[in-house]
Amino acid sequence: QATSIPADRVPDMGKRQLMNLLLLGAVSLPTGFMLVPYATFFAPPGLGSAGGGTTAKDAIGNDIIAADWLNTHGPGDRTLTEGLKGDPTYLVVEKDKTLASYGINAVCTHLGCVVPWNSAENKFICPCHGSQYNNQGRVVRGPAPLSLALAHANVENGKVVFVPWTETDFRTGEAPWWA
Ligand code: FES
Repeated sequence: QATSIPADRVPDMGKRQLMNLLLLGAVSLPTGFMLVPYATFFAPPGLGSAGGGTTAKDAIGNDIIAADWLNTHGPGDRTLTEGLKGDPTYLVVEKDKTLASYGINAVCTHLGCVVPWNSAENKFICPCHGSQYNNQGRVVRGPAPLSLALAHANVENGKVVFVPWTETDFRTGEAPWWA
């Protein structure tokens, strides 16, 4: 027989390898499971696209390129895009033709209708029960109890990226109710 391993050793080696595998598995499996929550627990939230950011998408689902957007959207423009968690989010063009550093979540804080922008009134006016928000999304008329949520609108590698807003709401000076 042309084998270099003595036939009587093979079963032993097989058994030892199996034992090693079982031991390894018994040790590493629970460790592996524990690493997942630890890793997510320590991942810093809200820092760039790796930490909870989402690339803004236009109406047909393409990533929004900041320069292209500014070519086609003038000063004062507020247009719906797809933001964090798929929420409809307004991208704002400032009067000086730059992108605002914040996006406005379009979901009405009353009962969740998507609030349209009314440029003639310079407000967001909810069609469902008439709540109104100023041009930054701060509530100015009920029944909506709260201002529209904010998200950071950053530009990374030319693309608009929404990142969760966890800081003070600059419109009210209050803690963000949505964070
Ligand atoms: Fe907007 Fe009621 S859902 S006012």
